[in-house]
Order: sequence, then structure tokens, then C-alpha cells
Amino acid sequence: MIFDLDMIKAVYDRYQLKVRMARKVVGRPLTYSEKILYSHLFDNNLSEPFIRGESYVDFAPDRVAMQDATAQMALLQFMQAGKKKVAVPSTVHADHLIQARVGADKDLQDAINKNNEVYNFLSSVSNKYGIGFWKPGAGIIHQVILENYAFPGGMMIGTDSHTPNAGGLGMIAIGVGGADAVDVMAGMSWELKFPKLIGIHLKGKLNGWAAPKDIILEVTGLLTVKGGTGYIIEYFGEGAESLSATGKGTICNMGAEVGATTSIFAYDESMSKYLKATGREEIATMADKIKEELRSDPEVYENPNNYYDQLIEIDLNTLEPHLNGPFSPDIATPISSIKEVAEKNGWPLRVDVGLIGSCTNSSYEDISRAASIAKQAADKNISPKAEYTITPGSELVRYTVERDGFLTIFEQIGGKVFANACGPCIGQWAREGAEKQQKNTIVHSFNRNFAKRADGNPNTYAFVASPELVTALAIAGDLSFDPRKDKLKNDKGEEIMLDEPQGYELPPGGFEVDDPGYQKPAEDGSEINIKVSPTSERLQLLESFPAWDGKNITGMRLLIKAYGKCTTDHISMAGPWLKFRGHLDHISNNTLIGAVNAFNMETNKVKNEDTGEYMAVPDSARKYKADGVPTIVIGDYNYGEGSSREHAAMQPRHLGVRAVLVKSFARIHETNLKKQGMLALTFANPDDYNKIQEGDIFNFLDLDQFAPGKSITIELVHADASKENIIANHTYNSGQIEWFKAGSALNLIKMNEDK
Ligand code: F3S
Repeated sequence: MIFDLDMIKAVYDRYQLKVRMARKVVGRPLTYSEKILYSHLFDNNLSEPFIRGESYVDFAPDRVAMQDATAQMALLQFMQAGKKKVAVPSTVHADHLIQARVGADKDLQDAINKNNEVYNFLSSVSNKYGIGFWKPGAGIIHQVILENYAFPGGMMIGTDSHTPNAGGLGMIAIGVGGADAVDVMAGMSWELKFPKLIGIHLKGKLNGWAAPKDIILEVTGLLTVKGGTGYIIEYFGEGAESLSATGKGTICNMGAEVGATTSIFAYDESMSKYLKATGREEIATMADKIKEELRSDPEVYENPNNYYDQLIEIDLNTLEPHLNGPFSPDIATPISSIKEVAEKNGWPLRVDVGLIGSCTNSSYEDISRAASIAKQAADKNISPKAEYTITPGSELVRYTVERDGFLTIFEQIGGKVFANACGPCIGQWAREGAEKQQKNTIVHSFNRNFAKRADGNPNTYAFVASPELVTALAIAGDLSFDPRKDKLKNDKGEEIMLDEPQGYELPPGGFEVDDPGYQKPAEDGSEINIKVSPTSERLQLLESFPAWDGKNITGMRLLIKAYGKCTTDHISMAGPWLKFRGHLDHISNNTLIGAVNAFNMETNKVKNEDTGEYMAVPDSARKYKADGVPTIVIGDYNYGEGSSREHAAMQPRHLGVRAVLVKSFARIHETNLKKQGMLALTFANPDDYNKIQEGDIFNFLDLDQFAPGKSITIELVHADASKENIIANHTYNSGQIEWFKAGSALNLIKMNEDK
């Protein structure tokens, strides 16, 4: 058994009681999301309700999932915590590092050859610490989670933004950074601002060419890419209950595209069927027993306006198939107007490639519906005008759809089946000719379509649609083709209409797989040694950051005074640097290279006071570090916004930065800095930012009295020897001050473990 039945039993054993307690404290009926959140509190002493959008709450998630790109640093950190095993069931999924080029087998072998060292590391660390490892080729993290681990009423975090996919099985599933995963795996709490709620009432039933994907494409158009920030989206209504569990997964997956914390559907018959079809009958039976609590209270459905912060209604009876794009998933166009809109905007109408699959849309239902369109082309002698590719989401689905003949149908129309991995969805697509940067159109069933995302070509116009519509458009080779009314010419010149897609919610012959690609961890991993070559390019074991000596830090030099926006991308760029995500020293060579130096308005060019020369930021930091000179980074408002990646805090720390002093922080980055043993400070008077000069020396005057709520005085010694003091504020509580004293949160966990 791959899933952890005992853990799920324990969750269900306490779930009802906790929901009842919460209902009493909150004093009103609860929505489904609230039930799950209140039943997963880290601290059981609930005395007053939390305020949505305001209260910071410590949660205890049931599981953790990590994909291979983010797992490397998460596991390197976890190894430092001194734990023998992870505290909650956890998995690693090797899906992001496989490049799609010629086809599944060859591409998979190439990836194994190229990333062997990383895969071996992930596999052996997983084995040692009790983490399930899904090997390269096993599938994409979210599809594998849905098939094996997601369960109604549960709560999980995952180091990938599309973790909410598990909402299709009624789970609160949230994307986080690696540092959060480490905390939960080490048995610590996980903090989240109690989300606000958007209710989406789905009325009626999908029909014809409309698919679950079209629901989220419509929602994305309504809410835009920022409209869901800080919210959980809860779907309900007869339309919700008419959707398959995997269709619900597609919708929840793409809630990430509106910035939602997560999305969720209540437990229903489709989830029960899916659990049974994927070998989890026991879970369905347990869920059935408490099904009234695995949904919102009846009053919520009767008067949703009273319980949701926003309410949206969508009529599925009249919902049209959509094409969203180009360059942003929230540019939503119903298919009936795509011709007019595309012509008006100069979007290329010729479709060069249609791509189906990805974590968003590669269920048995998706593949069977797409195959029903492809079969018509094969049977009616219509040669597809565009290239066509299929990226299955898991080996379970791939094996089953191959057995049932769907892959043969795709091959009959020239389709190319890639490995069960992210592939083109994450830019791992060696698309021939992309380097010529020609203007062209592709359509895909993935979730994101930002410029360059799929093939690196900024002139590729990518549109997101359901797999069945992608298939029809690839056959037609025309973005303006509306299969509901337009005809195609077959090879004999006859005019042909495509019939509406038909599919199966679940395989009539059941799911089947030969080798799912799962590595069960060792019962006792204590004898397993993790070896990382000291000369490795890709991986580096972490060394503990040094503890604070209890003294005022003095003689600090300015590394950079960043001007304006400084996001985590400015602090630790992605793109070509991704391959160094497991090597702190190598990736540190990108530290702050995107930040603008306020003194010369240039990037990656700062003055090093030791040499008097201008140099790259990482070079200057390394020079100061080698000379034993501590450094400080100065920043503007909302410093560190963007992703939750912990590299943006670890890298400056590794390069000798001791403090980051800014006008304000993005909260997650501020916490990440604290966790890595840095001083995250804000100007008491934001105008003091202007007092910082290039050649300043910074002396802390009262850091030795570091205490919650007490501001800190910093003496600036300017180049002309004049001095002035500025006041810095901080938000450290007493526990976080212990992190600083220990050198990092992980050091503290280890110290406690060693006691
Ligand atoms: Fe992978 Fe794309 Fe999903 S990168 S996890 S298939 S969003």
C-alpha cells in the first residue's frame, strides 16, 4: 500500500470532534474549507475564532510533497535538522528535469544520464529519512498525488504552486517554499494567514464541447491573475457535483493562475468513485461515514452570501469552450469570438503545435475525450495540419490508456508521446527551430502560458484550452476553427464535421500499471549514508550557519543599496540558474545580480570599499567575506516579494550578509530571512533610506539587548567620518530570536534534537 492508511484514520478519528469544537467557538455554521482548516490547527487550544485575511495561524498539515527542482534544497536543509525520519508522510517526485525532445523512452534515458547525480541523491535521502520517492518517468507530482495520496478532509503542503490540484479530492493543498516543507517534515508548525473565501456556485451541467477546463478558464478571466490572492476558492452546486474528481482537479490546479491560496470541492460521489478506482476503497468508506462534515454546513449552501467574502455564479449550461491567452492565462476568449479577437489583435491564426497533457489535464477522462476527436480524424481521413504531442501525467494513466488503445489512435494522427513528466509545460521542450524566434501560435492544455514558458521563444503565442479542443485545433491547424459549427476538408476533399467529444470518467476496464515507478523508503534508514561529491557541480551538502556570538555586529559594509522593486527573482534569478538549486555556493553567484544599485542605477555593479573598485554583487560579497567583513543589504518597499524560495535568504547569508534593512518586507521573505539566522529589519523612519551612503560603515549599538518589540539602533559612519544614528524595527518574537542566536532555525532544531 503506497498511501498511509493509519495517518488518514487518525485524521478522520479527530475530524468530527474538532469541527464541532470549531463550530462552537466560531458561533455559526462553517464552510468546508473552514472545517478543514480548524481541524488542522497545530495548537489544540482554540479559544476564539480567527479573522479571515488577518489572523496568522499555525497549522499541522498531514503530508508534504516535493518536486525534484525544489526538493534538492529542501532535503539538504532537512538533513541538517538532525532528525532520523520525517514527522509526516512525505514524497519526492522526479518530474521537472526531463526534457521533451524525441519521445518518451529516449528522453527519459537522456534525463537519467544527465541528472543521475541529482536523482541518486533524491532517492537515497528519501530512502534514509522515510520519504516515498517517485522515480523519473513515474509521473507528475500533482497527478501522482491525486492518484495515491489526496483524501477528502486532509491538508497538505507541496513545494510547487500547482499543489492545489488535490482539491479535486476535497483536500486543502497549498503550494509553499522548501523552507516550509522542511519545518513540517521536522515536526514544526506551518504558518498561514487565515484565508478569505470565494464561493463559486456552479449551476447547470456542462455539455457538448465544454469541459471542466473551460470552467477555470472562465474563472481566470473573471478574477484575473491576482484576483484570488489570499483566498481559498470553494466550488459548490449541482454543477460541481456533476464533474468527475479529475475534472475538479483541473479546476483546482489552475486556481494557482488567479493567485488563490488553494481551491476545493466538497466530498461527493465522484470522489468516492475515484478513490475506489485508484485502490483506496477504505478511504472512501471512512469518508462516507462523515460525509456530512466533508462539505459546508447546509446553511452555507442556502445563503452563500452570508458566508463567503465574494460569490460568483457560473451557468454551465451555457458555458462555451474557451481559449485563454496569449501570454497570460486570464485573457479569456470564448471560442465563438476567437476569430474576431485574434484578427483584431494580430494573433497568428495558424496553429503550429497542439500539446495535451501536463499535471493539469492528463486524466483518463481527458485522454479518452481527446482520443475520441483524434479517432474521427483517423477514421475520416483528415490529416492534422499541426504537430501534436501528448504528455501523460503518470505511468498509471499512460499504461492504462496504452492498454485501451488511445495512444495508438494518437500515433495514427502523427501524435508524439513524451515522457510522463512536466516537459513542455516548464520549458523542458527542445522544440526544433524555437531559437529562430519566429512568430507562431501553439495551443495547449497546460496551465501557464507566459512568454517563453513552453519553448523559450518570446514570439510563441500560447493559448490554453481543454485537451479535446486542443486536439480539434491541432487537426484543423487553425485557431479560429469552431468545431461546433465549422467543417474540415478530408484528404479526399469531402467536407467533414467533428462530432462532440466522448469519453470515460474512469477506465471501464479499471486502472492498470506494470511498474508505477515508486520507491518505498527503508524501514530503518539509519545505516544509509548520503554521499555528495565535493567536486559536484549540482549538489553541495550544507554547512550550518554560524551561531551569533551575542555581541553587537560592527564594522559592517554596504553590499548593495537596492533601488525600487527587488523581488526574489532579483535576489536569486531562475532560468539558467535552476540547475544549481541544490548547490548553495554555485547558485550564490546569482545573488542580487538583478537588483538595481541605487548609487549608479545599474544592476550587478557595486562598489567594494576594500578595493575601491566596482564589481559584481556576488564578487564583492565574497571579497568582504574573505576579509572577515560583515555586510548589510539595504532595500526599498516590499523587499523580497514574489516566490517563497528560500534560496533568496540562504544565498546572502552564505555570502556573509548579516542584516537586511528595508522600508518594508514581503512577509514570506522576511520569515525566510529569520529562519536562516539573518537580521530582517525595517527603517523606523522610511526616509532614513536616503541617509545611507555608498561608503558607510554600520555599527549596531544595542543588538546585544535584542528583544521582542524593542527597536535597534544602528550607527552610520559616513566616508567623511561624520556619524548619525538610525532606528530599525523588527518583528522577531522570542522564539525567532532564538533562531537568530542559534544561527538558523534548523540549528535550533538540531540543538534541541541533540539534547
Ligand atoms: Fe509540471 Fe507544469 Fe504541472 S511544470 S507540475 S506539469 S504546472
